[in-house]
Amino acid sequence: MYPFSTPSSIVRNRWYIAAFASEISRNPIERKLLGLPVALYRKEDGQPVAMYGLCPHRYFPLAQGKVRGDALVCGYHGFVFEADGKCSEIPSQGTAAGFCQPTYTLVERGQLCWIWMGDADKCDPALIPPYEDFGLEQPGWRYSSANYFHLKGRSQLLVDNLMDLTHLPYVHHHIGGGDAMRNPPITEEERQASYRVSRTGKVPFTPFHELVFGPQARFEGLSDFLSLTDYYGPEFIRTSLPVTLAVNGSEEVPPELGALYILHGITPETENTTHYFGFATRNFRLDSEELDAFQYESDCKIRQQDVDAIEAVERELDEAALRQRELLVRSDAPAVKVRRKIEALLKTEQPAAA
Ligand code: FES
Ligand SMILES: [Fe+2]
Repeated sequence: MYPFSTPSSIVRNRWYIAAFASEISRNPIERKLLGLPVALYRKEDGQPVAMYGLCPHRYFPLAQGKVRGDALVCGYHGFVFEADGKCSEIPSQGTAAGFCQPTYTLVERGQLCWIWMGDADKCDPALIPPYEDFGLEQPGWRYSSANYFHLKGRSQLLVDNLMDLTHLPYVHHHIGGGDAMRNPPITEEERQASYRVSRTGKVPFTPFHELVFGPQARFEGLSDFLSLTDYYGPEFIRTSLPVTLAVNGSEEVPPELGALYILHGITPETENTTHYFGFATRNFRLDSEELDAFQYESDCKIRQQDVDAIEAVERELDEAALRQRELLVRSDAPAVKVRRKIEALLKTEQPAAA
């Protein structure tokens, strides 16, 4: 399946964001994850549960039932499933069944709930992307701008989009300084937890900088900047607002404008649709609700632009890829490298297409 040689483009042995913690409550919700319907709810003690979402009796969606104690009661004929999936009651028979509904390990960490739907023997919470790299749950950092987009496009298109930022001046032309991303020098680095792409260049102080950092950060002339994209896996990518290093190459006035990370949780819903979880963290203006509001508005606008571009591609993609060979250019190098990494993961999980 484009752009991979494997029949599926979904890597299963990863921790994916299933939901923002705030979405899961005593009222069950259903979310399709990695192609499977999953019911999400909380036990009496608040612990979140993820259970395969269709009742084994008539395949009624379990999330349309009710939570009773720690169990989920099907809304069709009242079969009861405990939090570990065990069917404990069949009202029409007055008995239980020796049946267990599949459940999935769900780990709540801060504002996010991560799900493991891969092989049980490989399930290790230590493999959840490292929060310390993201300013998540870290002192001196603020979390903001949580947003969600349902993307009618395969997850790899979003990964490609995030690995190649030369789309900035075209897709996100409202952001000043985007021209600096047109052809910046790129360096790559294999880090322990991520594959990092760094871009450097020069930018003027833009209205966007002013809104983020405040007018006191204003500088004249051009400033050196560093922009990072870190790929942690097909499920998570971190981008950073360009960090301003020094004005006019001068070492002596490096205005420390702080770090702002834009974080991208990418969870396949099906082979052709994706849950896109977004949020931001920063280590400056920690109490500014005004900045939170601006960040949210800005992130939503930017993500909507990316979603629109990706959906336009997805609509034609399968036929287009058969008709015409994809043209790859120099700026695609990081995206191509990431595709190879993902293809290698896919190959360990499934045979290549015939
Ligand atoms: S479909 Fe769930 S109890 Fe019948
Ligand atoms: Fe974008």
